[in-house]
Parts: sequence; structure tokens; C-alpha cells
Amino acid sequence: MDLDYWLSRAADAIADWETTFGAYDAHPALAVSDEQFAAAFGEFTDRLKDNYPFFHPAYAGQMLKPPHPAAVVGYLATMLINPNNHALDGGPATAAMEKEVVSQLAAMFGFVAHFGHLTTSGTIANLEALFVARELHPGRGVAYSAEAHYTHGRMCGVLGIAGTSVGVDAAGRIDVGELDKLLASGKIGTVVATAGTTGLGAIDQVHDILDVTRRHGVRVHVDAAYGGFFTLLAGQDGPAGLDPAPWRAIAQCDSVVIDPHKHGLQPYGCGAVLFADPDVGRFYLHDSPYTYFTSGDLHLGEISLECSRAGAAAAALWLTFRLLPPTPTGLGGVVAAGRRAALDWARRLTASQILELYQPPELDIVCYFPAADSMSAIDAGSARILQAGMTSAEEPVFLSTLRVTADAIARRHPGIVADSDGARVLRSVLMKPEQETYVPRLHDRLERLAVLAASG
Ligand SMILES: Cc1ncc(COP(=O)(O)O)c(C=O)c1O
Repeated sequence: MDLDYWLSRAADAIADWETTFGAYDAHPALAVSDEQFAAAFGEFTDRLKDNYPFFHPAYAGQMLKPPHPAAVVGYLATMLINPNNHALDGGPATAAMEKEVVSQLAAMFGFVAHFGHLTTSGTIANLEALFVARELHPGRGVAYSAEAHYTHGRMCGVLGIAGTSVGVDAAGRIDVGELDKLLASGKIGTVVATAGTTGLGAIDQVHDILDVTRRHGVRVHVDAAYGGFFTLLAGQDGPAGLDPAPWRAIAQCDSVVIDPHKHGLQPYGCGAVLFADPDVGRFYLHDSPYTYFTSGDLHLGEISLECSRAGAAAAALWLTFRLLPPTPTGLGGVVAAGRRAALDWARRLTASQILELYQPPELDIVCYFPAADSMSAIDAGSARILQAGMTSAEEPVFLSTLRVTADAIARRHPGIVADSDGARVLRSVLMKPEQETYVPRLHDRLERLAVLAASG
């Protein structure tokens, strides 16, 4: 789609709508001349160049990429009106869109009933899930794996809940045996299962976790902020297909979080929290003397912890889902390309004499390191490759690093000398479908950088 054309159509469409309310005088306090704007804009666009090229397949670092053009047009058009999804009086159209996209997400996870809303981030969405966990099991704690996102421990602190970290297996998934023993103490009310860990993309075995938690009368919250849209690949044929067991089990869990601003092609901030039991809405009940006046219907602010939220975020997601819905043939095609890219790179890394695969990728995150005998050499080599890639003028490549413990390395690569307490390894999130055909170039570039790093 032609972004320039649709951006100007968006501005025109909103201007046309505005004229239906009658003419009025613009206030001189807001007046800015084109000359003034040109000067500020030049400075502004220069400042924006101080960025990494998140759009380019050579950016293979963190979970970052620009939104789909449909989301850009949807966001911009709506931002010209600037509705606030806190209340129906803040933006009826976008509140309705929010309810529709939330229903689509709930259907994607197989929830029979649901209660949920968008949030500004995965962190806030998880905070809401943990808040409900605390209300349902006051005095009982929350357990999550040592590989869970750091914000779970942090938000437990905010909520005054005891958070307990559980060990992981050799693939970075929560150790279900250890969890079982912990739950026998009766002190835990909710377990957080991560469907796609931030560091490695490991998938906690949600179905096994459910077996254990059911025996102990414990709830399960699934943090699928990063991995959620990969449920579209569950049980699919072909190399991108995933074992359906953990993904299908999400439908039996108590709540789930997903971030459309990660694999849902959205700009920041767009997270979502969904609860299986609509009755948990009672924990959100509050009154507000200055909102909720246009309708007796449920306002989104009545069922969320945040007050103001961008209606534009709901609109952008709604418009994107019209074109690329959360179905195997819609967004599924996008995440499948990243998954195939990760598998292809893993094969090349396994065959390489220069680089080593840290562990087989489960989703679209690949971790690897320069082949070396010791952990300190791996750490130094990874740091040199990261730096050399980012500062190369002719052929830049952008990666990220993951700090792993000596024990975690030894479990996967027993031959490596543990001369330090851990090492940084290189980490690439292949979340742009264009990376599927770019992997050979990435691999070749990384091998050359590793040779240089070893010699220098
Ligand atoms: C599994 C997981 N949970 C939670 C978060 C936090 O999400 P956000 O950065 O949107 O607050 C992330 C971010 O990467 C994540 O990967």
C-alpha cells in the first residue's frame, strides 16, 4: 500500500468529518507558520536519525520493528481526533473497536468467555493479571520461572505479593517438578507460565503446569506478551508448525497477556490482558464523578486500572486486523516467516565451525556465540562482535546480547571451561518476515565478524 497516499486520505477524511460541525475561528495562540515549522522539522528529522534501523533485516537485535502501514494510517487518522478509551464519552467508536479486537484475541486463544481490554504495555497488562491474582488469593504468593520477564518480580513488589522464582530445565522452561514441590506448601495462589520467554523464546509447558496447578487448587496466568501470536502456528503442518499442547492449554488458564506492539504489527503502546472468568470484573469496580455519563453500558475505564488510554491504539489494531487478522492465514503467515528464519539460521549455526548455536530456537529468537574454549572468551568475543557489527560503516549489523550463567552454558555445552560466572552470548529476534530471505547474509556477515573478532 502507498503510505503517502493513504496518510493524506486519512487527513482528508478527518477534515471532511470536522467540517460537518460548522466553521469556527482558529486561535492565533496556536498559529505556526510553514517557515517556522520547516526549521523545527528539519532539526527534528535530524534528531530522529540517532536511531538504529529497526525496519531493516540487518537489525537483528531486540524485539523492535516499525508498525504495519495500515496501523500507521489507522493511528494517525484517529490521533487527529484523539479519543480516549477510558470512557464511552471519551471515544465511542474506538471503545467499540477495542471490544472487537479484544474478542478476536480471546478467540485466537480459544477462550469460551472472556473479560479484557487493551493496555499501554505488556508490563501493565501483567500488573493487572497479578492484581486480580492477589484479590482472588489474598495472602498467597505468585510463582514464575527464573526466565520470566523481570517485571513479574517487580510488580509483585508493587502489589505487596510474595513472588517466588522457580528454576528452569535445560531448555529454559519452568521446572514443573520443582513447581509441584513449591505448590505443595500451599503458599502460592497463582503461577505465571511464560509462553515465549524474552531471552530465549522458550515455551513453558502450559499443559503440564495446568496438571500440577489443578491438583493444588492454584490459578495459572500466561505471559504471552512476546510469544502470543505464535499460537497461530500450533499444530500447523510444515517447518513453522509448533507442538499444539502448550498453546491449546492456554484456553484452560485463568488469564493471558499478549502484546500487539510486538508481533501484532502495532506501534507502542498496545498490550492486552484477557481473563477467562468475566466475573473478575468486580475487582475493578469503582466510581468516578466526572466520567461514565453518556451511557449505562460498561465503559472500558471501569474495567481497567489505567485511566486515559489512546483510542488510536485500538483503532490501529482494528484496522490492521481487518487486513491481517489473528488467524493462521493472516498474522500467522507473518510469524511463520520469522520462525522459518530462526530454523534456517539455527541449521547454519549448527554447521558452522566459527559460530555455535546456544540452543535450538523454539520461536523466532536465535542465540549463538563465537566458538571458543572458555566462558570468558565467549563473553569477550560476543562483545567484540556486537560492537564491530554496530559500528561498521560498510556493512552494519545490529544484534543484542543475553547474559547467561555458567550453569546454563554448562548444561548446553558441557565442554566449555567455566572460568567465569557466566557469559554474554549473542541474541537475535527475527521478527521481520523479510529476514526469512536475509538469513544467509546475516550468517555470512556474522561469521566474518567472528573471524575478525578472534584475530583482533
Ligand atoms: C514475556 C514478556 N513479558 C512482558 C514483557 C514486558 O512488555 P512491555 O515491554 O510491553 O512492557 C516482555 C517484553 O519484552 C516480554 O517479553
